[in-house]
Amino acid sequence: MAAIYPGSFDPITNGHLDLIERSSRLFDRLIVSILRNETKEPLFSVEERMQMLREVVHGYPNVEVDCFHGLLVDYAAQKSASVVIRGIRAISDYEGELQMALMNRRLAPAIETVFLMAGEAYSFISSRLVKEVIGLGGNISGLVPPPVEVRLRNRILETKGRT
Ligand code: PNS
Repeated sequence: MAAIYPGSFDPITNGHLDLIERSSRLFDRLIVSILRNETKEPLFSVEERMQMLREVVHGYPNVEVDCFHGLLVDYAAQKSASVVIRGIRAISDYEGELQMALMNRRLAPAIETVFLMAGEAYSFISSRLVKEVIGLGGNISGLVPPPVEVRLRNRILETKGRT
């Protein structure tokens, strides 16, 4: 059975990675896929985010990295995936996730959303907060995979150099 783990992954955190590890044990094939979203202004391009994902998932033989645009359910059908994985960290995630899951179910009843809880050590991590903390000079070690930390540091320095 194939599952899609969709998201922005700008950038991937250790919380995402924990979910990838859990899902890779549950499904035969896991496709981690980045939404090509022209309206958001990401810190990293889709290509950079795919590269970071590939670097950190290379140890998982049943995990692939991809990107998509348009409706998630159309993309899932195109990939013959019947499951969408989403992570729930806290109750605050629930409302938005429920809405998305129900909308996706209405659009494609055969595709099931499976919610997984990341380990409690990761429950407070988000890409947004990691970017904020490193941008303000805080320590993010242990929150993102080491190669991602290096790229984040470089990107923040580049951005600061430009201003
Ligand atoms: O990491 P994110 O930003 O929370 O991921 C959100 C994502 C990419 C899963 C969601 O925005 C999505 O699936 N977008 C694709 C467009 C779509 O299918 N919209 C209708 C279903 S709610």
